[in-house]
Amino acid sequence: MRKRIFIFGMAVFTFLFCLAGCGQSNEAGQEKTEITRAGAVEYDSSLITVGFIQTGKESAWRDANTADFLNTFTVEKGYNLIYIDGNSDSDRQIKAAFDLIAQEVDYIIIDPIVENGWKDVLTEASAKNIPVIVSDRQVNLNASNYACWVGSDFYQEGVNGAGWLENYLVSQDKDREKIKIVLIEGTKGATATIGRTEGIMERLEKNPNWEIVARECGNFTQGEGTNVMKKILEEGIEFDVLITENDNMMFGAMKAMDQKEIKYGRGTDIITISFDALGEALDLVQTGKLMVSVECNPLIAQLAEKAIQKLEEGKRVEKVNFVEEMVFTYENVGAYRKDRKY
Ligand code: AHR
Repeated sequence: MRKRIFIFGMAVFTFLFCLAGCGQSNEAGQEKTEITRAGAVEYDSSLITVGFIQTGKESAWRDANTADFLNTFTVEKGYNLIYIDGNSDSDRQIKAAFDLIAQEVDYIIIDPIVENGWKDVLTEASAKNIPVIVSDRQVNLNASNYACWVGSDFYQEGVNGAGWLENYLVSQDKDREKIKIVLIEGTKGATATIGRTEGIMERLEKNPNWEIVARECGNFTQGEGTNVMKKILEEGIEFDVLITENDNMMFGAMKAMDQKEIKYGRGTDIITISFDALGEALDLVQTGKLMVSVECNPLIAQLAEKAIQKLEEGKRVEKVNFVEEMVFTYENVGAYRKDRKY
C-alpha cells in the first residue's frame, strides 16, 4: 500500500531563496537575489502518507477539527500528513484532490465543503487504488465510491434542536401559541446544512403553530451571522425563536441584537438555539443567553485513523462511522464545561 513519494514543497514546488551570502551584484552594484528551484523532497517511505483536504477556516469548530487531524496524524505515530486548506472554495478542494492523486499518496481524507462535484476525483482515486475517507460532511455519491465516511448525524442534530424547542414550549405552557422562528442556515449544499435543516423542518411540520418568518444563509461564519441578523432587524421582523445552524453565526447574530439592545435567552421573549457546542457557547448556555447548543463533535480524526489502520491490515471498514454527540442546556452544562478544550 505504501509508496515512495516525492512532495514538491507546499503542495507542488518549493523555491529556495538564496539570501545574503549567495547574492550577486548587478551592474548598478545592487545585491541581486538568486532564486533556485529546489530538488524534490523525498519522504520517509516507512511513513503512511495521508493527504487531508480541509474546507477552510469558516468557524471555531473547523479550527478544532483541523487541530484534531494535525494532532492525530503525526510523524511520531507513523504518518506524513499533507494538510491542504480548501479556503472555502470547492473547486480548489477538487484540484487539490487531483494533485494528491498525482503525487500517489497512500490515503486521501476529504472534508467536502459541498456534497456535489466529487465523482471524477473519486473515480480517479479508485483507478489509482488510493482509498478516500470522507470526513465531516458527505459527498452525494454511492458509498462504493469511497472507503468510508466519518462524522456527525446532522439530521439527528436538527431533530434534537427542534425537539428541545418542542419540550421547552410545553414546559412553559406555550405549545399552543403561535411561534415565529428565524432560521439562519449554514453553507448551501453542505451536509451540515442539509441534515440540520431537514431535522428542524420535520419537527416544524408536526407543529402547525410554528412559522418560519425569516430563513437566511449565514455560511457558518460569525460575520455573516451579524449581517443577516442586522438585515432581519432592519426589516422589522418580529420573532420568538432564533435558530442558527452553528455557534459562530449565533455569536454574530447576538452582536447585532446587542447593538439594538434586544434581550435574548432565558427569561426573555427570544429563545436561542444553536449547534456545535464550542466552549464559548457553553459559557453562554451557563449564563442563559444561549438556551441550547446541540453538539457537533469535531474530534473525528481518530475515526479516520482507525479506518486507515484497518485498511493497512487488509481488514474491512464500516462505511458509516458516527461520532458521539450530546445536547447542552442550562441543566447539564456545568458538568461538562471544564473539559471542553475548544
Ligand atoms: O460541517 C460541520 C459544520 O461546519 C459545523 O457545524 C460548523 O461550525 C462548521 O463550519
